[in-house]
Amino acid sequence: MTSTAHGKVILLGEHAVVFGADALAASLSPGVECIARPSPGGTVLAVAPWGVSFRPDDGSELGRAVGDLCAAMGVRDAALALTLHLPGGGGLGSSAAMGVACARALAEMHGRTLRDDELLAFALGWEKVFHGNPSGVDHTLAALGGIGLFNRATGLRRVPMRGALRLCIGDSGERASTREMVHRVARLRERLPAATDQTIESIGAVARDGALALQEGDAKSLGNFMNLNQNLLAALLVSNERLEDLCAAARAAGALGAKLTGAGGGGCVIALAPGREDDVLAAWRAAGVDGRVVEVGR
Ligand code: PMV
Repeated sequence: MTSTAHGKVILLGEHAVVFGADALAASLSPGVECIARPSPGGTVLAVAPWGVSFRPDDGSELGRAVGDLCAAMGVRDAALALTLHLPGGGGLGSSAAMGVACARALAEMHGRTLRDDELLAFALGWEKVFHGNPSGVDHTLAALGGIGLFNRATGLRRVPMRGALRLCIGDSGERASTREMVHRVARLRERLPAATDQTIESIGAVARDGALALQEGDAKSLGNFMNLNQNLLAALLVSNERLEDLCAAARAAGALGAKLTGAGGGGCVIALAPGREDDVLAAWRAAGVDGRVVEVGR
């Protein structure tokens, strides 16, 4: 049987969530699929569409993550075939989705279904290989799906929503390491503690207000909160010129709000543009970005 996991989109609150603030996030499907089989030749993780395989001792982070996961789950040798429907390193939670799908597939191989708390613990171990201090938002959405406010102390609180939330997603094509971007904010906080904490607190408040707007179906306010969040993320030094240009292009094409999503420094931007999605995609195409419209939180 194929095991699956969701990708995720952070609507409001990335980075601040690492420091204990609330974030508003939604799952993105399809995310990742995985099948595990016993493998007498040792553990190997094959990732499509990259056409690359990883082994526990090959020196790669993915190799180490799969080796650690097998050890934690008490699995000896497994061949994992993973299919990724998300751009790698693009801020859409691809690494967490891989961890969740692999853990589910390894359990399935032994005829087991993991409880949510077991699955979340294994996936957190996986995420820690990629960056030392994950908030947990990625692997929680990857495992549980839906849409809600996430806080690292309290977990996911679901937000009831009227209808589906449609978003435009565009990949800037640039990449930055999540670990590096999280370190960048931590360094800023060491240098300017009061100002950085104030920004973090403001982002948390924007996420909570955004959740209310989402619940009430108030797209205009949600868009305003996304724009405000983008400015606060720029103050945390995780935006860049390309991301700012893509957000500006989306707004000029009729989006109510636009921002980076995920760790920033590159990766994806999202835009809320009810009824104007085609205009946003056209504006991004003119800027060399192939965007798409998705429904999140299902
Ligand atoms: O870029 P991604 O998909 O790894 O998302 C990172 C989100 C952060 O808030 C920056 C980090 C975290 O652990 O929450």
